[in-house]
Amino acid sequence: MLLTKDAFGEDFTWGVSTAAYQIEGAHNQGGKGHSIWDIFVKKKNKIFQNQHGDTACDFYNRYTQDLYLMYSLNIPNYRFSISWSRILPNGIGEVSEDGIDFYNRLIDFSLELGITPWVTLYHWDLPDALEKKGGWVNRDIKEWFGNYVSLCVAYFGDRVKNWMVLNEPMVFSAAGYFFGVHAPGRKGLDNFLAATHHAALTQTQGARVIKSMQKDSNVGTTFSCSHIEPFRMKEKDILAARRVDALLNRLFIEPLLGLGYPTADIKTLNRIEKYMKQNDEKDLIFNMDFIGVQNYTREIIRHATFVPFLQAKIVSAKERKVEMTAMNWEVYPESMYHVLRKFSAYPNMPPLIITENGAAFPDQVENNQVDDPQRIKYLQHTLEQVIRAKQEGVKVNGYFVWTFLDNFEWAEGYHPRFGLVYVDFQTQKRIVKSSGHWYANFLK
Ligand code: BGC
Repeated sequence: MLLTKDAFGEDFTWGVSTAAYQIEGAHNQGGKGHSIWDIFVKKKNKIFQNQHGDTACDFYNRYTQDLYLMYSLNIPNYRFSISWSRILPNGIGEVSEDGIDFYNRLIDFSLELGITPWVTLYHWDLPDALEKKGGWVNRDIKEWFGNYVSLCVAYFGDRVKNWMVLNEPMVFSAAGYFFGVHAPGRKGLDNFLAATHHAALTQTQGARVIKSMQKDSNVGTTFSCSHIEPFRMKEKDILAARRVDALLNRLFIEPLLGLGYPTADIKTLNRIEKYMKQNDEKDLIFNMDFIGVQNYTREIIRHATFVPFLQAKIVSAKERKVEMTAMNWEVYPESMYHVLRKFSAYPNMPPLIITENGAAFPDQVENNQVDDPQRIKYLQHTLEQVIRAKQEGVKVNGYFVWTFLDNFEWAEGYHPRFGLVYVDFQTQKRIVKSSGHWYANFLK
């Protein structure tokens, strides 16, 4: 079947996604304050080959050229994130006029090219000044964030209508506050549970602030989701898979929908009680205009007695000897279908938008070209799964490719290349990959 854009309908939103720390660089330009990522990358052996995002794609200085490239590829919507410490160097207090100016120019030039901005308010780069006060473990983050969001709406809301409050709270609270493999590098259950609860409260606080200031706004928030399957059809593996599903897929959407945390499947989550205050249960609920679904792979789970709290572990793609991406993730486009079905099955679920999907492969430059048939195949197969879900009645209204430019892939550094556009990080030269040309053609 040859899939065309028309099959998705006229109202379907197409775009690409990026995140500030992964592309902007200019870590000390324009009066920017340090974020937790600026600090974390300087610690020894946290990031692959001790790489960092100081320069990344230098998007801060090259955004006109990059937006022009986006325009030339027929991309009508651009999801990017605002770096909190670029506009509020200390997270609260004094505003950086240069920071505001940068995002004003970025928004204005996008609009001039006919590209609609979709703004993520938090894609993991917390101002370090706030981390020093406890970061996501401190309940005051709800107020700090609310204040930052109100500034963003006040400065940019005359031109920006589409907002995403948080990017994948499950990932930043687990990787950043439980495993310590992402910034700020904190560990332990208490940090994780506090960060989780405060992120869940903050996601609705942010949305309330936007709605109170901008009635015609389109407000959502984004979640990482993976289809989960048990390794064997045995009770122990099935139960282990259910626990992992509760953690990876249900932890943030269920309190948002008024269902509370999935404590029945993960007993340890009962300890969140400790951070709950009066009215929190109500405050965790908000009727979003859309939910951002971000899917890359599936996970196969088996029972593991010695893994604390979960008694479960992932059976890696390597062990299973299946096709993998450069992230060692299984190539499994059907996962998208399953997560769309799963999310849309909740009662009163707002429409879904796929705010991230893509794959990293070891792209090579040959004769000034980058041919990446594996990525084209992955994107095409995933879109077939989106149509499959849509035909079965799932309300899914948009799709954003992760990502536009090869960029800084967090703890993995620069080696996993996810872009539709290849970046030579020595020279900052861009080469549109064959997947970029394919997407341009698809969108034409
Ligand atoms: C994140 C991106 C990341 C991508 C690929 C998502 O979890 O939002 O920042 O680069 O996945 O790992």
